[in-house]
Amino acid sequence: MHSCFEKNRTFWKNHTHPFMVKILFVCLGNICRSPMAEAIMRKLVSERGLDADFQIDSAGLISYHEGEASDPRMREHAYRHGYRLTHISRPVRQGDFDNFDYIIGMDDSNYDKLRHLAPTLEAEAKVSRMTDYCTVHVIDHVPDPYYGGAQGFENVIEILEDACAGLLASLV
Ligand code: 4NP
Repeated sequence: MHSCFEKNRTFWKNHTHPFMVKILFVCLGNICRSPMAEAIMRKLVSERGLDADFQIDSAGLISYHEGEASDPRMREHAYRHGYRLTHISRPVRQGDFDNFDYIIGMDDSNYDKLRHLAPTLEAEAKVSRMTDYCTVHVIDHVPDPYYGGAQGFENVIEILEDACAGLLASLV
């Protein structure tokens, strides 16, 4: 049974955020950085009770890891920080440029490739860099942790927590 409180909450929620915000995080393989960004953003949005107002997904610029779970090292570091990575890798599709409002690359190479893939100027304008949303770290990319050690994965989480908080603050 829905209480009056629930009804009011739904009413205000719908009227405060009448539009769904659709965000796609993109990295090279879609097994480390972008699924991590997706999980962090989902958690932040959920903590604010805004799940219904956001569509959050991630994708990769190469299809080499398509169908695979996230990198076990990234999953392990994520787990220790309270996140569960359940995303299955998939490549960026042309339809993503229509469907999503924000298409966010992790580094300059991701950014340049996404801008190049964008079918229209309007779609190109949806592309940004993850570090643009950082409010604590002064950096211009999320370093690829794939060929490095444990510290690289910790670094990814630290940067992405900063960037996702900044992104959410810019939207609500
Ligand atoms: P990601 O990391 O782009 O953060 O998912 C990488 C994953 C795989 C590869 C490179 C980076 N790779 O070369 O297969």
